[in-house]
Amino acid sequence: MKAWRVHRNGEPREVMRLEDIPDPEPGPGELLVRVRAAAVNFPDALLCRGEYQVRPPFPFTPGVELCGEVLAAGEGAEQAPGSRVIAQPALPMGGFAERTLVGAATARTAPEALDDAEAAALHIGYQTGWFGLHRRARIQPGETLLVHAAAGGVGSAAVQLGKAAGARVIGVVGGESKARTARELGCDVVVDRRTDDIVAAVKEATDGRGADVVYDPVGGDAYAKAVKCIAFEGRIVVVGFASGAVPTPGLNHALIKNYSVLGLHWGLYNTKDPAAVQACHEELTSLAADGAIKPYISERVPLTDGANAVQRVFDGITTGRVVVEP
Ligand SMILES: NC(=O)c1ccc[n+]([C@@H]2O[C@H](COP(=O)([O-])OP(=O)(O)OC[C@H]3O[C@@H](n4cnc5c(N)ncnc54)[C@H](OP(=O)(O)O)[C@@H]3O)[C@@H](O)[C@H]2O)c1
Repeated sequence: MKAWRVHRNGEPREVMRLEDIPDPEPGPGELLVRVRAAAVNFPDALLCRGEYQVRPPFPFTPGVELCGEVLAAGEGAEQAPGSRVIAQPALPMGGFAERTLVGAATARTAPEALDDAEAAALHIGYQTGWFGLHRRARIQPGETLLVHAAAGGVGSAAVQLGKAAGARVIGVVGGESKARTARELGCDVVVDRRTDDIVAAVKEATDGRGADVVYDPVGGDAYAKAVKCIAFEGRIVVVGFASGAVPTPGLNHALIKNYSVLGLHWGLYNTKDPAAVQACHEELTSLAADGAIKPYISERVPLTDGANAVQRVFDGITTGRVVVEP
């Protein structure tokens, strides 16, 4: 079978190689799946570059979320062959391949309301958004939510989940075409970080109050702007550092303005509170069935375009999710 493999760290386009390798064998608690769709995530590029919190042994196949069809189940795995599931592959055997392995415990029924690419993209971005907005920030209807990189993968999910929670959503994006995407996603107000003054725009949109919740997958300057336009008792959810710059928060500033800085590592809930991850999956499935959320897939590319797709997501020039369909 064909699989993208990384033998050394570097830029995705340079270090990902499409190779012929034997089919993997499912071990105890594992499922062999045919990959129907694998969504590209920013961490795929970080994995290639050796900058992710997990460093799988070489050679590894990137691809951290997928929708697939179960072909065979290892000992103790319950899902029947033919089931359509969404799951996180068991690195070092990731999702950018024709077939791969997933832990049976992390495999969940793919929502019927979504096609394969949409279902693949419902997992990480939407689970992260749901835990960030509801569990960490306890967002309330009528509050104002500011989403950085609102046209991106996790950003677009947070915009839709914020609207579904009854919030007013301000989306920050880089460039005109992303601004159009953010409007189509449902943002009430869109701010272009390249041309607009983010702080002034948020103050104007909130009568000077500021945003109650900020969802920040970017860090760097995005975080610096967030603390300048966060409301009294506001909550900043630290989701990621796509800008490459990890902010150093001024705790004196959090004290004088009464705001909270909330860290979010969604993956930890898989071990710390797996029941909550399953409950979230059921909630997301129901929101998708009602049409309240629908992953925005900007591009569906063949397996041969995998490395290019990972590079482009890292370069910050894509919107929504780019999905590889082997
Ligand atoms: N905490 C968690 O549990 C968790 C879970 C999933 C993902 N994440 C993190 O969330 C972040 C977003 O992931 P994603 O897959 O959804 O990617 P993405 O948002 O689709 O892509 C990153 C976006 O960040 C913005 N950006 C700003 N400065 C950038 C720069 N210097 N280089 C590249 N992009 C820049 C760009 O949007 P604009 O041009 O519109 O600003 C770009 O489209 C990543 O840092 C990822 O590691 C965290």
